[in-house]
This record gives sequence, structure tokens and C-alpha cells, in this order.
Amino acid sequence: AIDISKLRDLTGYVTLDVGYKNTGATKSAITFLDGEAGILKYRGYPIEQLAQKSTFLEVAYLLIYGALPTKDQIQNFQKQINNHTLVHEDLKKFFDGYPSNSHPMGQLTGLISSLSAFYPESLHSNQTPDEINETIIKLLAKMTTIVSWIYKKSLGHPVIYPQKRFDYVTNFLYMTFGQRTEEVTIDPVIVEAMNVLLILHADHEQNCSTSTVRIVGSSEANLYSSVTAGISALWGPLHGGANQAVIEMLETIKADGGDTDKWINKAKDKNDPFRLMGFGHRVYKNFDPRAKIIKKACDDILEKLGIDDEVLDIAKKIEEIALKDPYFIERKLYPNVDFYSGIIYRALGFPTEMFTVLFALGRLPGWIAQWKEMRENKEPIGRPRQIYIGETDRDYVDIENR
Ligand code: ACO
Repeated sequence: AIDISKLRDLTGYVTLDVGYKNTGATKSAITFLDGEAGILKYRGYPIEQLAQKSTFLEVAYLLIYGALPTKDQIQNFQKQINNHTLVHEDLKKFFDGYPSNSHPMGQLTGLISSLSAFYPESLHSNQTPDEINETIIKLLAKMTTIVSWIYKKSLGHPVIYPQKRFDYVTNFLYMTFGQRTEEVTIDPVIVEAMNVLLILHADHEQNCSTSTVRIVGSSEANLYSSVTAGISALWGPLHGGANQAVIEMLETIKADGGDTDKWINKAKDKNDPFRLMGFGHRVYKNFDPRAKIIKKACDDILEKLGIDDEVLDIAKKIEEIALKDPYFIERKLYPNVDFYSGIIYRALGFPTEMFTVLFALGRLPGWIAQWKEMRENKEPIGRPRQIYIGETDRDYVDIENR
């Protein structure tokens, strides 16, 4: 254990905050979050209003450029994106090499990272604002195509090429669920559900993946590489990977006869590593405002699509029991956004392994906005300090004498 009173002598003045639980790393004008009051706002607009009234593309514009777009601005934004949704055919060769059962997140990191090799103009750290904007548009556009490719591969189906007549979310759903041979109409219920889910995931200030994007970008690494680092950070089950983990947990409980009490007790047992996935949050300590919206959306969508899902019943039972249990109350553990998102993704027809990729699709505008803000503010390279606790004085011993 470290003797805190000696820290100053050992290190000079260094703040020790493992996991950055209370250390601000930047000033930001993008997302406001009050964890105690359960408030989340993008650029000053409450998440509840955006989820109800806006579209994902409009929210992306808001996050990246700072204001809601006019009609002309959003049409132009959509048009620019639609001009860039095609992905270089040579990248497809790379994609074809992945085994069909490889994890979608592994494919996503590889493919997004490779975009930097196809668009070398993005590598210069002295890009003009217009050049940076072109990279932003390309990344937003190609992400939908790449995510849908990954889904199609999981089915063994041929990929579907984008169409300029569709809006951002519809085009994504068309490439994902469309068939080459038929004229598809995408169900507006699904388009609406997808818009809400993506809006709720679009930014969340300095979370693990976003901090990663900023710190990688602070070395003046290009946008594709910085976002790839964010995607890797998102993959972990304590972050974006939680949405996959939630459904797997609910399926396990279902297979175990639906004994929710038993699993809640396991989560409370300090000798058992099991945690209730989708519960708890580093910042929200009363409720996660996104979870409230998503729970309602989940009920609405399942009803509209006429789906009766036993896993949803188990989820609701767990929530009901946990919210009355002193263990969860004392530790301020409430359902987070991941608790219900997986149930909706499942109802829309996505396999479990795609869930974190969908989170990445939603978070992309946030990562871009944060990277852009960091570069515009000319922030210095991120470089945390440490408190050294290892050996201090050793002489090298030859291998024969060890
Ligand atoms: N189930 C059971 N107990 C929990 C849970 C949980 N899901 N989450 C926290 N706890 C307990 C811890 O064991 C600890 O108990 P103790 O004080 O008796 O030791 C206490 O609550 C505090 O937990 P920490 O891990 O210190 O909280 P932290 O802020 O570091 O972690 C986190 C937050 C990672 C989200 C955590 O709650 C967790 O692991 N949740 C499950 C995974 C999950 O849902 N992640 C998604 C997060 S949201 C997102 O990324 C979109």
C-alpha cells in the first residue's frame, strides 16, 4: 500500500486519480451531463427532445458543427454523405479475407483503420478545415456501408450497395436488411426506432472510448486512426460491449429457468465475479436518462412489431427487484442505456455480436465532434503522469548468478 503522506516527497505534485474518477481532462462545449440529476444535453438541447423530435443525421450535424442545421444545411450534408457512401473496392478484398465467424468488432476496427490507407490526404496534421470536413463526411458515409457489410457477412449474403435516394438511417437499413433482387421498403417503425437508438448513443462526454479518441488525436494522429482507437476501447464489456453482455446474461438466466432472485444474489456476492450487466454507471448515480427513453421505446417497438420476448420479461423483473434491493440502492446502481438497447436490436433482427458495432455507429458523430474540438482548441498532447511504486535501486546481476 502507498503511504499517501510520503507521496509528495516521492513524486512532487502529481494528482493520483486511477481511472480518472474525478479529473477533468479538457474543457468541452459539446455534451453536458449531470449524473446526480440525470440530465444529458447535446449542445444545450435535452436528450429527451432530441430523441423525440430529431433524426440521427441532424443530431450528428448538431454535435459536429455546434448548431441545428437549416433545411439547406441538412440537405447539403445528406447529399455530401450520399456522394461518399461507396467504399473502395480494394477494401472489400481485405474484408473478404475475414472468416465469416470473426467478431464484427474485430472486423470494424480493421476496416475503419484501413480507410487511412485509402485516403492518404487525411494523414497530414496540417489539413485545412475544408479538408478535415471532407474526411469527416467520408467517415460518416462509409461507416454505414461497412457496418452493413459486416452484418451481411455474418449471414453469408452478398453485400448491398448504397443508394443515393435514401436518407442516412434508411440507407443503412436498406444495405443491412435489403435483398439484391427485390424493391425494398424499409418499415418506418424500424427507421424511427433506429434513429432513437443512434441519437441516444451519439455522445456522452469524456467516457472511455471518447477520451481514447481525444488522447490518440492529441498526438495529431489522423481521424480514422483516432476513431479506430475509440472503437477498440468501446469493445470492452465494461463499456459498449455491455449491450452484448446484457443479452447473453438474460439468455443464460432464461435457460436457467428464469430464476432472477438467484442471479441477483450472485451479483451481490462479493466472492462471485458476476455483475448484473447493464446496471451501474460511473457518472449517473440516480438514473440514466437514456435508459428511461429506451425502456419506453422498447415497449413501443415490441408492441408495434408484435413481438413477445421472454427475455424482456426477465429484464423487467430484474429491474423491479434490483430497484428495491438495498445492495443496489446503497451503491446507486440503476439500469444504464445498455440494459434495454440489446432487446430492441434483437427485435429489429440484429444478431447479438452486432450490438456493439451498432453502438459504434451511433457514437461516431460524438467521437468526430470531440476529435474536431480538440484539434480546433489546439490541445497539447495527452500524457498522464504516474506514481512510481516499483523497485528503486538494483544492480544488474549476470544470468549465472541469479
Ligand atoms: N452488479 C453488481 N454490483 C455492481 C455492479 C453491477 N453491475 N456495478 C457496480 N457494482 C458494485 C461494485 O461491486 C462495487 O461494490 P463495493 O463498493 O461493495 O465494492 C460498487 O458497486 C461500485 O462499483 P465500481 O465498479 O467501483 O463502480 P465504477 O464506477 O468503477 O463502475 C461500471 C461503473 C463499470 C459501469 C460498473 O457499474 C459495471 O461494471 N457495470 C456492469 C457493466 C455495464 O453495464 N457497463 C456499461 C456501462 S454504460 C456504457 O458504457 C454505455
